[in-house]
Amino acid sequence: MLQNASVLVTGGASGIGLALADYLLAEGWRVIVADIAASALEAAREALAAHGEKAHFIALDVTKEAEVERAIAEAERNFGPIKGVVNSAGIARDIPALETSAELFRTILDINLVGTFLVCREAAKAMLANGGGSIVNIASISGQRGNLGRVAYGSSKAGVIQLTKVMAVELATSGIRVNAIAPGPVETPLLKELLTPESRAAWMGVVPMRRAGTPEEMAGTVAFLLDGTKSGFVTGQTIGIDGGFGAGGLINP
Ligand code: NAI
Repeated sequence: MLQNASVLVTGGASGIGLALADYLLAEGWRVIVADIAASALEAAREALAAHGEKAHFIALDVTKEAEVERAIAEAERNFGPIKGVVNSAGIARDIPALETSAELFRTILDINLVGTFLVCREAAKAMLANGGGSIVNIASISGQRGNLGRVAYGSSKAGVIQLTKVMAVELATSGIRVNAIAPGPVETPLLKELLTPESRAAWMGVVPMRRAGTPEEMAGTVAFLLDGTKSGFVTGQTIGIDGGFGAGGLINP
């Protein structure tokens, strides 16, 4: 366990990222919560206040290369070497492929895929100088299966799974591991905005556990992947946390 080591969580002000920040702080990590949304960052500061000065907050748009470079440098200067990164910043839209504009497609790829890449690249450069570390990307079951309405989102997440593999291979001998999780539906602000009552019912009909996961249910696996004393030989993997969705086929009688 990396007591007092620093971990940067992008998209850390809401949903999965916020639950992860809380879990990792309780485990003894120093956590840098990075998010684009100023109001959510303020709310996260309050939500995590019990952890005292181990929690830090920075404004970051992951699509802006210079901001990413500056955020990693600043985080290292102020809070010590970064040994872990979780890329949870992301957006989702449900929209049929034939109605998806080039602009929306590019926006989703820019945040979910290019943003993840930029943070991985800059964090890995810092980790190279720090003797290694662990990166965990938040992909999705929509990056593995052809889910209706997810042409842009699913393509972005398939890209995240692939970049996870390539970076894992390129960095394998440098002490830097790169893994991902592929969550099924998780009860967060993103899901609430994304699903209609009809699409929620449809989703619950195809997840074998018949429910969405909680953000807290993502945390243990991510913490395991961050902790090299527990997962030191695991790299390039995408672990499904999906109530059985990826295993399922015919699940209704
Ligand atoms: P959320 O909407 O609660 O949190 C996402 C956070 O990312 C927000 O705080 C938002 O401000 C931040 N963000 C958005 N654009 C950003 C940018 N350019 N730079 C920095 N921060 C930015 O969403 P949730 O559900 O916690 O999602 C987290 C990750 O998990 C996303 O990548 C999402 O695609 C993925 N995921 C979520 C699932 C779900 O059902 N909730 C399922 C599978 C994957």
